[in-house]
Amino acid sequence: MRKNLLLAFILILVIVSCSQAQEMKIGACIYRFNDAFMLRFRNAMAEESQKAGAKIDFADGQDDQNTQNSQIDEFIANGVNVLIVNPVDRMSSQPIIDKAKAANIPVVFINREPSLEMLSTYDKAYYIGAKAEESGTQSGQLIAEYFKSHPEADKNKDGKLQYILLRGQNGHQDMILRSKYSIEAIKESGIEPVELANAIANWDKLQAMTIANAFIMSIGAENIEAIIANNDEMALGAVEALKANNYNMGDPALYIPVVGVDANASALEAMDRGEMLGTVLNDADNQGIAAVKLALALAENKDLNSIGYKIIDNKYIWIPYQKVTRGDTK
Ligand code: GAL
Ligand code: CA
Repeated sequence: MRKNLLLAFILILVIVSCSQAQEMKIGACIYRFNDAFMLRFRNAMAEESQKAGAKIDFADGQDDQNTQNSQIDEFIANGVNVLIVNPVDRMSSQPIIDKAKAANIPVVFINREPSLEMLSTYDKAYYIGAKAEESGTQSGQLIAEYFKSHPEADKNKDGKLQYILLRGQNGHQDMILRSKYSIEAIKESGIEPVELANAIANWDKLQAMTIANAFIMSIGAENIEAIIANNDEMALGAVEALKANNYNMGDPALYIPVVGVDANASALEAMDRGEMLGTVLNDADNQGIAAVKLALALAENKDLNSIGYKIIDNKYIWIPYQKVTRGDTK
């Protein structure tokens, strides 16, 4: 009898310690692996998961919502404890929320913001990101500050700023709001902006290079006073196009200020070389850390106020943007 009791006790101990050591599994869906900023984001999440002793698996949505939907099904079937989702099409987030809810798995959206209406349908649905309008405002301010402190930047001396705008993917909050608020900020600084051309280049360097080159050919580089891009990759594409036309290579007479958003390493290097005016830090590290911390707290039913990030309206964590100019990179 005693022996049996002892055995039962040991068995319980084993079960308890096993269940405690069971590692948390995070299923993370990225809209597309081939994206410079999302790579930084992924690295931050991988590092934070490792620190927390959790397992994180990443799926590449390849810019296709159907592909991503199957990946979500698979993660759920494989028994992940929580989902982190960077939706391909943020307006198609409702079915993802429904699936997570049906499986009683928390879901943390990142980088592409579902509507509050969608998020409100599930108490364990959250969004972590940065306020798009803030980055737009800051990039517009960078251009305005430059224009004011460099009278020669007003090439045609009309007191107005003739610019080209390179926009990100259609429907993305960062594309819509960065475009709007960068121009608003220029107006607010007292400078009248004049749009020479704008185009969607899908966050992509190569597309932006081709488009910028076509604009330079049709408009003439000497008539362009600024290039504003919704992200760094597109800004760098524009820089390549400018360099191919002998611009932004060191001669102050042949220079067009270019701004982006993200503060990716390649953009900071271009700024150090004097090829790009500035960028706005899109804080992938903090967004990634916050995403993993919140995901794990939700999965483990912990107090959400203990993760060190302020949760707004029980739905959002906002990570601030920050202006970066040449001097800051050194
Ligand atoms: C933006 C970022 C872009 C691109 C996009 C993907 O926040 O600035 O470079 O990564 O997200 O959704
Ligand atoms: Ca002008």
